[in-house]
Amino acid sequence: ESSFSGNDSVAALDQRSLADLQPHASYKVAVLGAGGGIGQPLSLLIKLSPLVSALHLYDIANVKGVAADLSHCNTPSEVLAFTGASELAGALKGVNVVVIPAGVPRKPGMTRDDLFNINAGIVKNLVEAVADNCPDAFIQIISNPVNSTVPIAAEVLKKKGVYDPKKLFGVTTLDVVRANTFVARKKNLKLTDVDVPVIGGHAGITILPLLSKTKPSISFTDEEIEELTVRIQNGGTEVVEAKAGAGSATLSMAYGAARFVESSLRALDGDSHVYECTFIQSELTELPFFASRVKIGRNGIEEVVSKDLQGLTAYEEKALEALKPELKASIEKGISFANK
Ligand code: NAD
Ligand code: LMR
Repeated sequence: ESSFSGNDSVAALDQRSLADLQPHASYKVAVLGAGGGIGQPLSLLIKLSPLVSALHLYDIANVKGVAADLSHCNTPSEVLAFTGASELAGALKGVNVVVIPAGVPRKPGMTRDDLFNINAGIVKNLVEAVADNCPDAFIQIISNPVNSTVPIAAEVLKKKGVYDPKKLFGVTTLDVVRANTFVARKKNLKLTDVDVPVIGGHAGITILPLLSKTKPSISFTDEEIEELTVRIQNGGTEVVEAKAGAGSATLSMAYGAARFVESSLRALDGDSHVYECTFIQSELTELPFFASRVKIGRNGIEEVVSKDLQGLTAYEEKALEALKPELKASIEKGISFANK
């Protein structure tokens, strides 16, 4: 079992010369919201993947130029632009993986839940189109609030009769990326060696890094645990405040999402050692959705890594209980919106 798979593949891409990226490529990926702050760098990183044969870029505007630009990179995938609702079905036909970073980002002073009123409807409409055009695809939701948009997507897919809980993922990779970075810096460890599972959800205290399960095994003082946990939980807000009104994390998010996409493609391609944390329908706790480490295979989630939740420290147990009411409310808000 390895949890470093995503990191490995991004690093491997760096080391390979682009000319070596021969069309081993056979998967089609659609990015919905491809013209945005996340969409553009994410599309660039997906364009580097040797596993991708076609990259479909969809947005309500400004996507033609992004596609023309990216299409000049001499990597295997063909890049196609799809603009506006009338071209959405075309963007989705035959696609294996759909990544959704469409929607508005936070400004200072806002919570992720403050984005609900706009983004809930955007995700609902996009997932309806996914259900109609590529119901077997892996669906990866980035749009916030993830704690509500993933339950919305599940309800939409159920209504359409095509819901496969093994193929619906809330992208929480950025929480893992941040946890790995902050822990490695704090403890002077080699960055690529550190892996911290992050469970729960993707907002404030619902983000719970399990520092006691860090690999390699290291000890932290109580002060370090408190400081690191709070920093990981507030990583998004740190960026929102630094950008001072110009949006939220886009580049680190693109890096995190590209890792998740590449992991998924390797799983589809038959790699049997792909593990990532993600927010999914779950039976790990009493909550219907919960982020945890999972094993991904050809047909989606093959196994939920339940051992991460065993032997938690008192600090983690308390934080886990504390996050449940907020996460539950966000899930229920999403479900009732979708059924309105
Ligand atoms: P952005 O405003 O820069 O880009 C959003 C893009 O979505 C724009 O190009 C816009 O035209 C497009 N869009 C809007 N409505 C659409 C629709 N109906 N169909 C297709 N495209 C549509 O925002 P961003 O910085 O890229 O952030 C996007 C979302 O990702 C936000 O909701 C943000 O909160 C979220 N986010 C999530 C994470 C995470 O860890 N899951 C991290 C960072 C940001
Ligand atoms: C993040 O964690 O960076 C994203 O969820 C964006 C945000 O609003 O913080």
